[in-house]
Amino acid sequence: MDNQYSIEKIYDRWGKFYDIFFKKVFSEGRNVGVELLQLKSDEKLLEVGVGTGLSLPLYPKSSEIIGIDISSKMLEKAEEKVRSLHLENVDLTVMNAQEMEFPDNSFDCVTACYVVSAAPDPQKVVSEICRVCKPNGRIVFINHFKSQNFFLAKFEELINGACKKIGWETTLDLDPLLKSNNLTLIAQERVNLFNYWKAVLCINSKEK
Ligand SMILES: C[S@@+](CC[C@H](N)C(=O)[O-])C[C@H]1O[C@@H](n2cnc3c(N)ncnc32)[C@H](O)[C@@H]1O
Repeated sequence: MDNQYSIEKIYDRWGKFYDIFFKKVFSEGRNVGVELLQLKSDEKLLEVGVGTGLSLPLYPKSSEIIGIDISSKMLEKAEEKVRSLHLENVDLTVMNAQEMEFPDNSFDCVTACYVVSAAPDPQKVVSEICRVCKPNGRIVFINHFKSQNFFLAKFEELINGACKKIGWETTLDLDPLLKSNNLTLIAQERVNLFNYWKAVLCINSKEK
């Protein structure tokens, strides 16, 4: 089965239940990520893999927010939040983050909350994020990245296959992703249960 098709199906299935499991448990990461970003009112932000829209209420209502996701069922839940919370600054579209339809340099800022390790090709997602983000734009990733601890890293390798079946991988390495995409690390904070995840702020250091 095609990877892209299967990740879409996996998250279409999560749609109804996602908030029950992942709203609270991942909320610290979303809050810290948005705080690190310091989004200004005249800036345009893209949220990649916006899912059920749990971070949408955290952005200033004066900023223009575009959210994309590959799963239409996750986005249906995000649309409900946009309507009930009157988030008139938010536009949502079904789109694959690995092949975005936006022109180069379309956004001042990009966020990806718990997405890069969920996508079939993390490297492609990050290179697309850098393409659509302006030079010197700010990019925030919130994710679990491969542990630096030898034993934990081995454990993560062991459970990776099972985790992929339910929607994410556990062995994604942060440093090569940053290096190969010309991203400059500005700040990182450990977040969520056992500080097992990271909120990472980067600058898009691509050439103008
Ligand atoms: C773990 S959920 C995170 C949702 C949300 N960002 C949050 O904070 O809870 C991962 C999301 O990434 C989306 N996703 C995975 N691969 C994608 C891709 N290639 N393009 C767009 N969205 C993708 C999934 O459909 C899902 O909604």
